[in-house]
Amino acid sequence: MRKKVIAGNWKMYNDLDATAELLNGLKKGIGNSEAGCTVIVCPPYTSLSLASSLLKGSIIKLGAQNMYFEEQGAFTGEISAAMLKSAGCEYVIIGHSERRTIFRETNGMINLKIKKALGSGLKPVFCIGETLEEREKGITNEVLKTQLEEGLAGLGEDDVNKIIIAYEPVWAIGTGRTATPEQAQEAHKFIRNVIGEKFSPAVAGNIIIQYGGSVKPDNAAELLKQEDIDGALVGGACLKADSFLSIIRSA
Ligand code: PGA
Repeated sequence: MRKKVIAGNWKMYNDLDATAELLNGLKKGIGNSEAGCTVIVCPPYTSLSLASSLLKGSIIKLGAQNMYFEEQGAFTGEISAAMLKSAGCEYVIIGHSERRTIFRETNGMINLKIKKALGSGLKPVFCIGETLEEREKGITNEVLKTQLEEGLAGLGEDDVNKIIIAYEPVWAIGTGRTATPEQAQEAHKFIRNVIGEKFSPAVAGNIIIQYGGSVKPDNAAELLKQEDIDGALVGGACLKADSFLSIIRSA
C-alpha cells in the first residue's frame, strides 16, 4: 500500500505575513493527529526558514521549489541543496514545467539537480509532463519516457526509492483544464511501467507518482481513486487553507 502524498507548490506567492497566515490555517485544520497521508508545502525561498520554525512539531513537511546543482560559488541568484537543507527542507521540486519552459531547464540539468539533491539528503519531487501539442501529435508516451530516462540517468534503485514523480501535463497546469481520471491513470500506469523496466518491479511498485494540473477540491477525490495515482501536486488550490485541507481530506 502506497501512502498518498499531497504537496502544495506555492510558486511565486506569499510574503512572510501570508506564509504565517496560511501555515497557521493549515496547522489548525490538520491538527497534530497522524494524517492518513503525507503533506508537504513548498513555499518560496524567502519563506522557508520561517515555515520551518512554524512547522516544528507539525506533521506538515517542508520542501523547496527549485535548487541549483553546484555546491557553492559565483552563481548569482541561485540556491544550493545544502542551503535548502539548512533552512529545514526535506523535499525539493525539480524540473517543474515552468522551470523547463520559462527558465530553459533541460533534462540534463534536471538530472544534475536530482543527483545533487539526493547526495545532499533531499528528496526530489521530479516533474514530467507533455505539452498540448505533444499530446495532440500522439507522442505523449515518448516524451514521458525520454524525460524519465534522461532525468533519472545514472541513478540506482536506492536513489529512485527516494524520489517522488509528479506527472503534470503542461496543458493542465493553471488552466482549469484537468486531465480526466482515465487520461491521468493511463499516463501514471505508463510511467510506472517505464520505472519497472528501467529499475525493478519492486521500485515501480513502491514509487509515489503524483498527479498535478488544476487539482481542486471538487476533482481531487476522483483522481486520487485511480489505482496508479498516489497523490497530488497542487498549485492554485494550495494557496487557501480551506481548499488545500479539502484536497488533503480527499486523500
Ligand atoms: P495548478 O498547478 O494546480 O495551479 O494547475 C500545479 C503545478 O504547477 O504544480
